[in-house]
Amino acid sequence: MQQAFSDDRSPSAAGLTLVGVGPGDPQLLTVAAVRAIEAAAVVAYPVAREGADGMAATIAAPWIGASQRRLPLLFPMVSEAEPRRAAWHAAAEALAAEVAAGEVVVLLCEGDASLFASCSYVLLALAERHPSCPVRVIPGITSVAAAAAAGSWPLALQGEGLLIRPTPESPAALERLLDWAVASSTTLALLKLGQRWSWVRPLLEARGLLDQALFAQRVGWPEQLLAPAAQVPASEQPYFSLLLVRQGWPPVLP
Ligand SMILES: C[S@@+](CC[C@H](N)C(=O)[O-])C[C@H]1O[C@@H](n2cnc3c(N)ncnc32)[C@H](O)[C@@H]1O
Repeated sequence: MQQAFSDDRSPSAAGLTLVGVGPGDPQLLTVAAVRAIEAAAVVAYPVAREGADGMAATIAAPWIGASQRRLPLLFPMVSEAEPRRAAWHAAAEALAAEVAAGEVVVLLCEGDASLFASCSYVLLALAERHPSCPVRVIPGITSVAAAAAAGSWPLALQGEGLLIRPTPESPAALERLLDWAVASSTTLALLKLGQRWSWVRPLLEARGLLDQALFAQRVGWPEQLLAPAAQVPASEQPYFSLLLVRQGWPPVLP
């Protein structure tokens, strides 16, 4: 991938900054993220449909000024490849045009900007179609880190591994993943849990893992729910839900 990175560009130089805004709490933007937003003339953000507010823009709202131009970019939540590709290309063209016109632009990304993030596709599309467009990325706090912190739940210790991935699509695939996680002492952070929780919970219960799992929903939002997995009934849950599953504890502990 060829890309012109310019981390040292001055705050007023035209360019695009992808800004991770964290998972919900506006206090969990980094200082660098807030400074980049404040310095921008154009604040772009993903929306799932025309007229929607956009999760990243809602999180960053306290840091966006009334005089800054807002640029919603449509990223439809569909599984078909073509509408998604078209949306990434359209977003890349719109952002490149703003930068070519001399604007300082930020693109807000929920959580971290590099973890299962729509803006990563924009980054790739820009590298392909506008390789001279100056782009930099400011990392954000992930939903996984925020959930672990809110639940006082150590993610990984000593020789343990940590795997962050979408929840598997089927019970058989989750069984295989859990077998591997036990064998390799790996904590699992399972995203995109919502619709799958109705079958994930009974499977964890059968394996005696409910007591070692933390369920986290809308972390950092007023309606945040953090609970031992055993306390969350086996029903469909909202999209912004995740699960942390620990396989055991290392031998040397306080
Ligand atoms: C497309 S991924 C985005 C991940 C995001 N870029 C990050 O760094 O955390 C969306 C998934 O992340 C998880 N997620 C994101 N924000 C969350 C939040 N505030 N509370 C709980 N889960 C969240 C959910 O599992 C959701 O299905």
